[in-house]
Amino acid sequence: MKKIFLNFFAVLLFCPLLHAQKFDKLALTPPMGWNSWNKFGRDINEGLIRSITDAMDTSGMKDAGYQYIVIDDCWQGTRDSLGFIHPDPQKFPSGIKALADYIHSKGLKFGIYSCAGIQTCGGFPASRGHEYQDAIMYSQWGADYLKYDWCNTDGLNAVGAYTTMRDALYAAGRPIVFSLCEWGNNDPWKWGKDVGHLWRTTGDITACFDCELNHGTWSQWGVMKIAEMRKDIRQYAGPGHWNDPDMLEVGNGMSVNEDRAHFSLWCMMAAPLISGNDLSAMSTTTKEILMNKEVIAVDQDSLGVQGYKYDSKDSVEVWVKPLMRDDWAICFLNRSLQKQKVDFDWSKNIITDELSKRTLNTNETKYNIRNLWVKKNIGTTKKKLTAKIASHDVLMVRLSK
Ligand code: GLA
Repeated sequence: MKKIFLNFFAVLLFCPLLHAQKFDKLALTPPMGWNSWNKFGRDINEGLIRSITDAMDTSGMKDAGYQYIVIDDCWQGTRDSLGFIHPDPQKFPSGIKALADYIHSKGLKFGIYSCAGIQTCGGFPASRGHEYQDAIMYSQWGADYLKYDWCNTDGLNAVGAYTTMRDALYAAGRPIVFSLCEWGNNDPWKWGKDVGHLWRTTGDITACFDCELNHGTWSQWGVMKIAEMRKDIRQYAGPGHWNDPDMLEVGNGMSVNEDRAHFSLWCMMAAPLISGNDLSAMSTTTKEILMNKEVIAVDQDSLGVQGYKYDSKDSVEVWVKPLMRDDWAICFLNRSLQKQKVDFDWSKNIITDELSKRTLNTNETKYNIRNLWVKKNIGTTKKKLTAKIASHDVLMVRLSK
């Protein structure tokens, strides 16, 4: 009797340790990397991924903080007789493990894609019913990141499906950042924190400023539409669990101003910074945007508070983000088609963020202002900020004591 009791006690004691969970201490700041989908779609192969890896390494992207090289949909071949998945041998003749080894040899991390349904959105074999096998495979290949999509999931419960894959990854034992890609359909911000490290909040992005591309049963969204779409979920984001407004479209066809505005807003929102352009053929301006370390520092700030729209007047929005050491990032965004004048009186704008319990009161504290795109100090908050902002562009500043 005593023995049974002791055994039961031991189970009670150790059960929490054995209990499946997500890997913690990952993505303490929003993940940064590159993903194949936005630019290359279905047209991927190992040569491309290797050349992107080289470009990530040599272009300065790695030094700027980008880490993950993520292969999105359409890498899959077939399952073998035991049910294990293998890559398309034409596209990836050397296999995924060799590619992951190559990525790791450059000091980068490797990410892979699957889907909770029977088939991926691109029509390839997905993980439903094979979660544990797939997790073992990814882990053996050396994956550090999994993006997990939501196509062909009829009858599936989202929390259950994503939790199953979380548990499978945990059981496989290799720490993997788990990116939930169910487009915000089932309010993942409400349950995602215990399941993954980031969750998509909307449908797919497209490289336009403010459009909707209607495909009938689904739409793709321009960057402003996405920034507008989920206004009230910032309290769900924080270190290890981020709202993901989708991958970047910088360098994929918008104007320079629009690319800059897009990147600035993503940093204000503490969004994952997953570039989606051809890193081996970047223009100077694309490089300047993606690798602006001062703007990236706003995104990666360790306080981990998602910024928000504080005000809007004459098509100029004012976004604010509290940062470490009582710094603030402020982004003035001109959504109109004309140049707009900004005339911002700091003393009349005492900004209190109820979420982080921080207040910006320039009547009590004087801040130095740094223009993050021009990379210049432009005075203090004792004077009004006056500036002209080009159409679809931003003025982004950092206030420091
Ligand atoms: C969905 C996702 C995209 C991309 C494609 C791939 O649409 O939201 O980000 O992964 O599938 O088919």
